Amino acid sequence: MRTETAPTITRLDYKPYPYRLPAVELLFDLDPAQTTVRATLQFERAGSQGDALILNGEDLELLSLVLDGKPLSSDEYELADSTLTLYPEQARFTLEITSLCRPADNSSLMGLYVSGDQLFTQCEAEGFRRITWFPDRPDVMARYRVHLRADKKRYPLLLSNGNLVAQQDLSEGRHEAIWEDPHLKPSYLFALVAGDFECREHTLTTRSGRSALLQVYSDRGSGAKTAWALDCLARSVRWDEQRFGLALDLDRFMVVAARDFNMGAMENKGLNIFNSAYVLADKDTATDAAYRAIEAVIGHEYFHNWTGNRVTCRDWFQLSLKEGLTVFRDQEFSADMLAQGLEGTEAVSARAVKRIDDVTTLRIAQFPEDAGPMAHPIRPESYQEIGNFYTATVYEKGAEVVRMQHTLLGEAGFRAGLDEYFRRHDGQAVTCDDFVSAMESVYSQRNPGKDLQVFRRWYNQAGTPRVTVTLSWNQATQTCSITLRQRCAPAGIEKLQDPPVAKPPLHIPFALGLLGRDGRSLALSHEGKSAETVLLELTEAQQTWTFENIPEAPVPSLLRNFSAPVMVEFDRPDADLALLAQHDTDPFARWEAGRELASRQLLKMVSAGASQSTVDPLFIDTWRSLLQDDNITDAYKARVLSLPSEKELLEKTEPLDPLGAVRACRELRGALGKQLAPLWQKTYQSTLAQAGSEYSPDPVSAGKRALKNLALSYLMAGGAEFGRLAREQYYGAGNMTDRMGALSALMHYSAESERAAALEHFYQQWQQDPLVMDKWFSLQATAPDATVETMRSLMLHPAFSLRNPNRARALIFQFCMNNLQGIHNVQGYDFWADQVLALNSLNPEVAARLARAFDNWARFAEPQRSGMRAALEQVQQHPELSRNVAEIISKALKI
Ligand code: TRP
Ligand code: ZN
Repeated sequence: MRTETAPTITRLDYKPYPYRLPAVELLFDLDPAQTTVRATLQFERAGSQGDALILNGEDLELLSLVLDGKPLSSDEYELADSTLTLYPEQARFTLEITSLCRPADNSSLMGLYVSGDQLFTQCEAEGFRRITWFPDRPDVMARYRVHLRADKKRYPLLLSNGNLVAQQDLSEGRHEAIWEDPHLKPSYLFALVAGDFECREHTLTTRSGRSALLQVYSDRGSGAKTAWALDCLARSVRWDEQRFGLALDLDRFMVVAARDFNMGAMENKGLNIFNSAYVLADKDTATDAAYRAIEAVIGHEYFHNWTGNRVTCRDWFQLSLKEGLTVFRDQEFSADMLAQGLEGTEAVSARAVKRIDDVTTLRIAQFPEDAGPMAHPIRPESYQEIGNFYTATVYEKGAEVVRMQHTLLGEAGFRAGLDEYFRRHDGQAVTCDDFVSAMESVYSQRNPGKDLQVFRRWYNQAGTPRVTVTLSWNQATQTCSITLRQRCAPAGIEKLQDPPVAKPPLHIPFALGLLGRDGRSLALSHEGKSAETVLLELTEAQQTWTFENIPEAPVPSLLRNFSAPVMVEFDRPDADLALLAQHDTDPFARWEAGRELASRQLLKMVSAGASQSTVDPLFIDTWRSLLQDDNITDAYKARVLSLPSEKELLEKTEPLDPLGAVRACRELRGALGKQLAPLWQKTYQSTLAQAGSEYSPDPVSAGKRALKNLALSYLMAGGAEFGRLAREQYYGAGNMTDRMGALSALMHYSAESERAAALEHFYQQWQQDPLVMDKWFSLQATAPDATVETMRSLMLHPAFSLRNPNRARALIFQFCMNNLQGIHNVQGYDFWADQVLALNSLNPEVAARLARAFDNWARFAEPQRSGMRAALEQVQQHPELSRNVAEIISKALKI
C-alpha cells in the first residue's frame, strides 16, 4: 500500500471494451493460505486489430500465461502494478492464466477471503481482480463455468453461481464441484462459498409453473435462526411476480450468511452473500427493527436479480441505475408488507410508517452528504475510488429520483415504463439515461407534448434544492394562489468554483392539499379534476397556480408523502403546524407538521442555553392530543410522538452545535415525560396488557411494542421513579425488542450501578452470540456518559476485534458517529484518527466509511472546527493511506 495521487476516473471518458468474452472457465484449488486459480478466457475482438487487451489484477502472483496453447514469455506481455497487457494478433483466441492469491491474509474482505472456517468472495465493485486477471468492468459479460476443489472435511459445501452440474471425490481427501451459470454476467456478480453450513430450504412454484429451490445457508448452530429470512425470500419472489410481473429465472436461489462482511449484502447471481446481521433472527436475539431490516435486505438483493443483474450497469457511474431503482423497489416491498391485510386509512397509515422511516434516513444520511465535501449527483461525474460512491446519494436519493418518476407516471404508467425498459434492455449493460428514456416513452405518450428533459437534470445535479412557498387567498374572488420558487446552492466542490456554476431548475413533483380552519380538507380543482391532493409539476424557477372556490384562507399541506427530495420553506405560525399535526389526512404530512413543531421547540431550547428554556404549551397540548387520539394506529403513533434525533436536530443548527443538540433533546424529552406522565403511564400499561403471550414480528404487534417502549423512555426521561418499570421489563422480557427497549432506557436514565448490573446480566446471557454482543457494544458506545476512556477499555475486551466489520461498527462507528457528546472533544478527535489509521491498513473500505465521520467539520464552530481539521490533517500525513481513505480525506480538507 502506498499513498499516491490516485488517478481520477471521469464519466465522459467511457470507452467500450475492445474485446468480447463469451466464455469463462475457472478452476479453483481452494486453500486458505494460497489458492490457485486457472482462468480460461475465450476472447473475440470487437474493436480494431492491434487494440491492447488490458486485464486488471491486484495482489495476485502470476504463475503462467498461455495463449492458444502456447506459453508466453515475459517479453510477450506487460505486467504492471495492477494491469496485465497483451497485444493479440488473432481475432479469436484463448488465454489461460494461472495465478495465486492468499485468502487468509486478505483482511480487506474484497476478493476471496476467509471468515471463521469458511471461504467467501466479494467482487462488487472491483474485487474480482483480486481473484484473477480479468477485464473487471461491468460491461464485459460472460458465461461462467466454475470448478471448485477443496478439502472435503473442512469445506464439505462448495457453492457458486447457477446450477450444480457435477460433483466428485478427488484424491487426498479433496473433492470437486462444478457449477454452470446459464446467464451472462459481469465479473462483479461472480461468487463462491466454501465451508460447513446448515441449510434451510423451500421449494416454490413460480407463476410460470417452474419449480425453484430457495435455500438459506448459515454456520453450524445458527440454523434455527433462518426461518424468517427464508420466509422473506419466498415473499420477495411472490411480490416481484405480482407487483412488477418479474419472475425468478433460476432453478436454485441461494442466500449465505457471512460473519465478516463489509456491507449489508450482495446480489451475486443465484448466490446472494449476506452479512449475517441481515439473515439471522429469532425472538430472543433480534429486535423488531432487525426483523424489518432483514425483510428489506432480502428483498433488495432478490429484486436486484432483475434490476441489476438481468439489466446491469454499463460503467460504475451508472450505479444508481441499479441501486436507486432497487432501493425504491425494496421500499415499496416493505411498505406493502406493512399494509398486508389492512384496508382503507389503516393501510395508508401503515405504508406511511415506512415512508416516514425512509425520509428520516434520507435526512440524516443524504442531506448532510449533499451539504458537505463529498456532495455528488446520483450519477457522479468522477471518482478516484468507486468503493467510496456506494453512498446515501446514489442509494437513497437515487431511490427518490425513481420514486418521483413513479409519482409522475402513476403506478400503471410506471409499470408500463419498467416493462418497456426490460423489453429494450434485457441482457444488456446500460445507462441511467436508458432508464429515463424508457419511462419517458410512456410519459410522453400519456402527456402529449411533454417529456422528461428537465427531469433528467436530477442525474446531473448535486445539492438539496429548496422550494419556497408563498400563498395568497383572495376573499373577493374566493381563489387561492400558490407560488413555488426553487433554487439549489452550490454543493461540494462547486463551492470552490468562480464564477459559481449555473444550476438550472429541476422538474419537481409537488403534492399539495389545503385544509380549512376547522381541519377539514378542501376540494381542489386542477386540470379538470377535483381532488383532495393535487400534483403540481414545477419545472421552472418559479410558477404560480390558482385554485377556485376556496371559501376561506386555507392552511396548506405541503409536499405530501414527500413527493420530492427537497427542503420546503414556508413561513407560518406554530398554530398552523399544530392544526396539521392533528388533522392532515395525508399521514406523512401530518407527521411532518408535528416534526416541524418539535424542531422549532428544540431549536429555541438550543439557543436559550442550559436550563433557560421553557416548553411552549401549544407544543405540549399537541403531543397530548396525539397521545389521546384513538383513531391512529400504534406504529404510526410511535412515529408521530417521537422527537427528532440529536443528529436530525444537529443538521438544523448553525453553526452545528452538537452539545446544544444533545442538551435540547434531553430537556424536551424530560419535559414531555414529566408533563404527560399520567398519559404515558396509561399508554404503557394498555400496550403492555394487549401484548400476546407469543411473540410475533407482525407490524401490528411490533407497533404496540414500539409505542410501549417509547412510553417507557418518556417516563424514564421524566423522572427516576419509573426505574422500576424499566427494570421489570428488562429482567422479565420475553423478546429482544422489549429487552433492548428497557435496557436502552436504563442506559440513558438510570444510576451507574443499575446500568452496570444490567449490562453484566446481558453479557452473561448472550456472550456466545456475536450479533447480540454487537448490541452490547453499541449500547455502551452510545451511552450518554461514554468517553474515549470507555472506548479504549472496551477495545481491550477479548470479544472486541477491529477485523470484524460488524464489531468495529458496533463500537467505533457508533461512538464516532452517534455519540455527539462523547466524540466532540480533542480526545474524541484523536481517537477517531487512530481508528481510521488502524482500519486503513486492515480494511480500506471500512476505514473510508469511518473517515467520513468528519466530512462536515467546516460547518462547526470553534474549537470543534479546528479540532476536527487537525485530526483530518493528522490522518492525511500518514505515509501509507489507502486510495479509499486518501480520497475522502483530501476532499474533506479541500473545502
Ligand atoms: N450491491 C450491494 C447492494 O447494494 C452492495 C455492495 C456493493 C457491497 N459493494 C459491496 C456489499 C462491497 C459488500 C461489499 O446490495
Ligand atoms: Zn443494491
